[in-house]
Amino acid sequence: MLVTSQLSDSNDKISPTNSNKNTYIPDSESADRVTDSRDGNLIIKRHSTMSTTSGQVIRCRAAVAWEPGEPLSIQDVEVAPPKEHEVRIKMVATGVCHTDWEYLYESGKGMKFRPFPLVLGHEAAGIVESIGPEVTNFSPGDKVIPLFLPQCWECERCRSPKTNHCRKNWANTQMGVLADGTSRISCKSQQLYQFLGVSSFCQYTVVPDTSLAKIRSDAPLDKVCLLGCSVSTGYGAAVNTGKVEKDSTCAVFGLGAVGLAAVMGCQVAGARSIIGVDINPDKFEKAKFFGATECINPSDHNKPIQEVLVEKTCGGVDYALECVGSPAIMNAALESTAEAWGTCVIAGWSETESMNVMVEKILMGRTLKGTYFGGWKSVRDVPKLVDDYMNKKLKLDEFITHSLPLNEINVAFDLLKSGKSIRTVINLWD
Ligand SMILES: NC(=O)c1ccc[n+]([C@@H]2O[C@H](COP(=O)([O-])OP(=O)(O)OC[C@H]3O[C@@H](n4cnc5c(N)ncnc54)[C@H](O)[C@@H]3O)[C@@H](O)[C@H]2O)c1
Ligand SMILES: [Zn+2]
Ligand SMILES: [Zn+2]
Repeated sequence: MLVTSQLSDSNDKISPTNSNKNTYIPDSESADRVTDSRDGNLIIKRHSTMSTTSGQVIRCRAAVAWEPGEPLSIQDVEVAPPKEHEVRIKMVATGVCHTDWEYLYESGKGMKFRPFPLVLGHEAAGIVESIGPEVTNFSPGDKVIPLFLPQCWECERCRSPKTNHCRKNWANTQMGVLADGTSRISCKSQQLYQFLGVSSFCQYTVVPDTSLAKIRSDAPLDKVCLLGCSVSTGYGAAVNTGKVEKDSTCAVFGLGAVGLAAVMGCQVAGARSIIGVDINPDKFEKAKFFGATECINPSDHNKPIQEVLVEKTCGGVDYALECVGSPAIMNAALESTAEAWGTCVIAGWSETESMNVMVEKILMGRTLKGTYFGGWKSVRDVPKLVDDYMNKKLKLDEFITHSLPLNEINVAFDLLKSGKSIRTVINLWD
């Protein structure tokens, strides 16, 4: 049997003038505060925890990528119930990440081949609609953040404090399917692959229970969705992978959401000097807000940016963080670090290209590292990052420059690529 969604939700609208930040929302009723993109009013969205859709196929809307290089198309899709150790989520909000764009428009270039048609989106937050057999950690109504990097707690890597690279379902996730080799989303009887095992550009999705973080019930989903990828990655690149130290000097290459979060991480770590580097000077004001002490546009100089930085810092920075995804910039970042102890962390994504590293740079004591999801153990750490945001230790709101409904998702890609946005958050039910 098929059911259509939007079953038992109700929305209340509160104007900014009479809104009360402490509005009481009963725990038995899962609710979310989102801001109306058109008039700035606060909307309280209530979601009944009594799922009437459990066990049934749900028909809802998704932005479908039918083939590489083509804009996304809004379609009615069907989302099957969760199988063993799976959870079906009602997605509430999703960020649009550079990796989504890259996979759609650069598939086969910097990214490995993954099958189409698929549903992109991996930086999201939502509410558990129903759970499959054997699921013990989640209940309908729980607020959750789906994770493109699982944490099973059992594999060799999960048991090691040295890494967050859990291998659970790895090969299947990379190929856009769940543990049984199939996806739960289909359109016109055709299977749609799930990007990085998530697919948040859909009003409902199904993920493994090891790829899901349960978060506190008062977290605003249209903000904390950014902890599903960009902010956690950039922030963790600085504080976990780079282990940026107090009074150090840092350079952050690329001032998108990942780079700005890296700047924020350097500031939280107590860096003395944080140099933001971007070819788009429109990013500089935000970078300074997040803690950059200075910003440089490589296009303003007639020598390579690494030489500019080495001169400026009398020998190179202690930490360089690459948040662009270009091998040439990865090299520039490495070469801008100080001999003897400089550390370069690569956060920018590329799966098929190579770096051309001068051996001497490494021999002279520099360290080159990569970061995946900022080094966070995903299931354990994402709820703590949500707490940090709620306790005002971590900024999120300022990353969000635009808010759009699902049917304008291609505009979000345009804004990202033209450098006009930092993050656009898609409200899936607007
Ligand atoms: N490691 C991970 O786990 C992980 C997670 C998320 C995203 N990523 C990757 O991080 C990168 C950044 O993502 P984002 O969403 O912040 O992207 P974004 O497009 O918002 O930001 C990229 C920034 O780089 C700047 N830039 C482009 N060319 C440059 C150059 N030559 N020199 C300096 N700056 C330049 C752009 O102007 C832009 O401000 C992407 O490659 C993305 O795929 C990695
Ligand atoms: Zn991402
Ligand atoms: Zn594991």
